[in-house]
Amino acid sequence: MTTDELDSIVASARRAFAGAATPAHLENAKAQFTGKAGRITDLMKGLGALSVEAKKARGAAINAAKQAIEAALSERRQQLADAELQAQLKAEALDISLPGRLREPGGLHPVSLTMERIERIFASMGFDVADGPEIESDWHSFTSLNNPPNHPARSMQDTFYVDIDGDDGIPYNLRPHTSPMQVRYAHQHIKKYADQVKAGGTMPEIRVIAPGRTYRVDSDATHSPMFHQCEGLWLGENVSFKDLKVVFTDFCRTFFESDDLALRFRPSFFPFTEPSAEIDIQFQSGPMAGRWLEVAGSGQVHPAVVRNMGLDPEHYIGFAFGMGPDRLTMLRYGVNDLRLFFDGDIRFLRQFR
Ligand code: DAH
Repeated sequence: MTTDELDSIVASARRAFAGAATPAHLENAKAQFTGKAGRITDLMKGLGALSVEAKKARGAAINAAKQAIEAALSERRQQLADAELQAQLKAEALDISLPGRLREPGGLHPVSLTMERIERIFASMGFDVADGPEIESDWHSFTSLNNPPNHPARSMQDTFYVDIDGDDGIPYNLRPHTSPMQVRYAHQHIKKYADQVKAGGTMPEIRVIAPGRTYRVDSDATHSPMFHQCEGLWLGENVSFKDLKVVFTDFCRTFFESDDLALRFRPSFFPFTEPSAEIDIQFQSGPMAGRWLEVAGSGQVHPAVVRNMGLDPEHYIGFAFGMGPDRLTMLRYGVNDLRLFFDGDIRFLRQFR
């Protein structure tokens, strides 16, 4: 066999490898040349019949051909593997030119912003912040607040009653105000310090605000069946109406960031306070200048309510107030229709972000 013949075997191996389109085809093609019954293997077997000299020369030539074939084989293997990778990358390609999905940052509801503001201001004056049930017992909503069944003062509030009766057969309602939190919180407070008092210590004063949702059968531009209130209560051994004036004036001036805000305490009636007052504020400048606007009910806590808290009205006196955060929000931002707060219209809400 001549060198030309070896060259032609190498050449046909190269052709066969180039023609193999898949790794499996390539391995089959390889078998025809360097496999057990391959052409190169056959030539190797034929060496045995040659002289030592001839065997050396011929063996080297066959080996060179074999190496050339193996080089061609691994080159083609690499090509096929690269092609496979390219095909896979192409199939799994992401179109990074697609515009991203825009996610707008959220924001708090204007009334939530007001609630947080109220909490911050009162917390800075040493008030605790309490939370209570929106489905409330008739006793907490009315009776405990010196407003017994069938008393005409109950009709000041158009209440939603719900179809649950307490253990005593007394109905529950959707609380029409946050005032039931006065007695509820006082009970918790007394319980919390019971051990301390038993051990001869004293109970700290009750100083709390209770913001939350309230409900009434009422609906127009300035009334929503669901609205918000924030109750306030400060009860101690010597807390007077003067303290109410100081605390509430301070609160309003901080809330509206206005030192020249005027307050007016107008005599009123609530069953749970005596004396009672409605609190109006007046802006001294700006678009609202001169108008008086009611922002809260208030008064000195009635002795009957103090007794229902489990405290002695001879020792504990103080004030309470209930204000409307929705109203405060309208005033602060100049919103004229309460219903805008509850429509959930994103174009309106977005302005407060
Ligand atoms: N609860 C009253 C209402 O809903 C508001 C109120 C008035 C609360 C006087 C008080 C208060 O704590 O002392 O109209």
